[in-house]
Amino acid sequence: MSIAHGIRTLGVLGAGQMGTGIALVSALRAKVPVLLHDRSAEQVKKGLSLMDKLLAKDVAKGRLTNEEAKEARDRVSVVGVDAGIQGLRDVDMVVEAVSENLQLKQAIFSSFAAELKPEAILATNTSSISITKIAASALPTGVSAASEEGKRIASRVVGLHFFNPVPVMKLVELISALQTSQDTLDRARAFAIACGKEVTVSKDVPGFVSNALLMPFINEAIMCLEKGTATREDIDTTLKLGMNHPMGPLQLADFIGLDTCLAIQQTLYEGTRDSKYRPSLLLQQMVDAQWYGRKNGKGFYEYDK
Ligand code: 3HC
Repeated sequence: MSIAHGIRTLGVLGAGQMGTGIALVSALRAKVPVLLHDRSAEQVKKGLSLMDKLLAKDVAKGRLTNEEAKEARDRVSVVGVDAGIQGLRDVDMVVEAVSENLQLKQAIFSSFAAELKPEAILATNTSSISITKIAASALPTGVSAASEEGKRIASRVVGLHFFNPVPVMKLVELISALQTSQDTLDRARAFAIACGKEVTVSKDVPGFVSNALLMPFINEAIMCLEKGTATREDIDTTLKLGMNHPMGPLQLADFIGLDTCLAIQQTLYEGTRDSKYRPSLLLQQMVDAQWYGRKNGKGFYEYDK
């Protein structure tokens, strides 16, 4: 028996690549109204323009009618910078998709209990950070984690990890915090399925399954470059043509964002103390140089901004 997700309105926090993609598939596939919020109006503008471009391409390719595209776009509204998180107070689920930074996520989740409906699902699109830690940060000051209220609030937090580009990648990784309830998990899974995604489940370990496997692979490719084992092109071509990967690991690192790769690798290394996760010096230095990959035009390769 399929479980209803019961999401009548979704909030998406963060209008970067991931938040925009999540808003789009929710409006287009799950057909739910979406409230999109970001603390940068400029970022929202960029996100909406990407959404328009992707919908127009689907119409041009005959995959959507003009009407379907317009209906999907009309389901997305913007919560202005001034309204803040309070503007999401009526949503049934919020998906947080801000940068991969524990303090930032904790600050956001600590404001959810005061601002959102008590029954709303609080999902995070984190790539690697402990969902259990994020859930603990959702408790308002003075509410004990062991109290009924504390347990109820934390039980609504769940990891819902989408992949970039969200409209294209078919997977969502579902992660349960120690505190997450079965009802929250079931509804989050049902929502991801309604967005057209296949769901895998991972334990709440650093990087979950996806990034615990992907990041050492990317890091090893960066170390090959660092050691001069091969050129960037030959490293990428080896994986593309030798293993049929759609992108080589250095191209993929640029695509994900080198700052994001470093943040994930640091979480993996700090969370496990296993040397196989230690970020390479070259990656660290590239981020120090503010070479973040595709998003700002310079990474292992150069891009038109
Ligand atoms: N947003 C939406 N759609 C996009 C897109 C974007 N940013 N970039 C490309 N696409 C779409 C294109 O519009 C095109 O759609 P169409 O078939 O409807 O025309 C389709 O993807 C194919 O694009 P292209 O023909 O331009 O290029 P490619 O065939 O090279 O495919 C790619 C591009 C889909 C990005 C492919 O290279 C790929 O699959 N790369 C690997 C991506 C990957 O591994 N993602 C996971 C990253 S890890 C992650 O997200 C987890 C996080 O925690 C780090």
